[in-house]
Amino acid sequence: MKAIEIKPGVYWVGAIDWAIRDFHGYTTPNGTSYNNYLVMDDQITLFDTVKHDFSKTTIDNIRSLVDPAKIRNIVVNHIENDHVTSLADVMALTPDAAIYITEKGRKGLARFFDILKWDIKVVKTGDTLNIGKRTLLFLETPMLHWPDSMMTYIKEDKLLISQDAFGQHYASSARFDDEFITYHSAAELEEAVKDYYANILMPFGALIKSKIAEVLKLGLEIDMIAPDHGIIWRKDPAKILNMYLEMANGKADLRVVIIYDTMWQSTELMSGSIMQGIRDEGVDVQVIKLRANPNSVAIKELWKARGCLIGSPTLNNSMFPTVGDFLVYLKGLRPKNRLVGAFGSYGWGGGAVKDIYEEFRKIGLEAVEPGLQVLYRPSVEDEDKCYEFGREFARRVKSYHAQF
Ligand code: FEO
Repeated sequence: MKAIEIKPGVYWVGAIDWAIRDFHGYTTPNGTSYNNYLVMDDQITLFDTVKHDFSKTTIDNIRSLVDPAKIRNIVVNHIENDHVTSLADVMALTPDAAIYITEKGRKGLARFFDILKWDIKVVKTGDTLNIGKRTLLFLETPMLHWPDSMMTYIKEDKLLISQDAFGQHYASSARFDDEFITYHSAAELEEAVKDYYANILMPFGALIKSKIAEVLKLGLEIDMIAPDHGIIWRKDPAKILNMYLEMANGKADLRVVIIYDTMWQSTELMSGSIMQGIRDEGVDVQVIKLRANPNSVAIKELWKARGCLIGSPTLNNSMFPTVGDFLVYLKGLRPKNRLVGAFGSYGWGGGAVKDIYEEFRKIGLEAVEPGLQVLYRPSVEDEDKCYEFGREFARRVKSYHAQF
């Protein structure tokens, strides 16, 4: 896709990755984009680069506007590989450009490249850089979502260049929110935002709230937010800020998601009866089998729902491996404000349900105990127990949800 003017003199010069389906383990069925931006001012300034596979694409986009040798400044808002690995290719074309980056970013950059020959300028929150008709304001956002992360605000354009924050993994010919809603739908955009937040930003809710409060306190007027992935928020930037605040405050739907795996369908049969009990209690319920879905889909659905039940058969005195894999992924994302429980079948000693509750304790999730275990195969009586287990869990979720 060619360069696109997003504000007078400000251009998207990034790349669309239509084919990527595995983004460092995060399944991306819709692909993604790597957004970077070129500001044509007295000092031509580039914001971030792209994943190295697309180095030529972004350089061609820059070249369609200006000789890259004329770039004077490169702002590195974030040093993760998908944004920084083309930096050396760009610097080879304009070796005297100054790089503006946080101190943590400078240290990290030195692990990727030999930076001794580069003119590195370390910046911190509140520092400014005049590039002609515009002044850039740097805002450190450490751990949103890496230690080096920062955003840059351009007052004259009321533009926040926000690196990963407010992004989505979605390859589309739409570059703006209003275009995306026309080509796809508003619901699909919200789903993409929630998917990205759940899989990337879930651990950082408190930081998100404090950083948005800091930006509001600074009184920055923002009429466009340009992230490093997905669409640019030009029609309704307030929408994405509000969505982030809601998600950071633990917003969820009154719904239970059952996430399970199964060996000989006993745990699967249990999940069916539990699902019926939840539904008959008037609570929406969704069922996700782990071997039929990527972890990132299960995480998104867990994040959207107030309650979650994890089901696993016992294999060799422990939980089923796919369930263990999912719980490791979940633990890193540190979910909050969700009520959980566990169930599963076993043959002799059991162990899966106990292990799952142990993981809940480590994560710090509030759990409904005891869980439910069934020997070998659910009998008619066991199916009734599963149904009642589902009804009781749904009642507890309704009561828990009322706090929010
Ligand atoms: Fe899109 Fe944290 O990289």
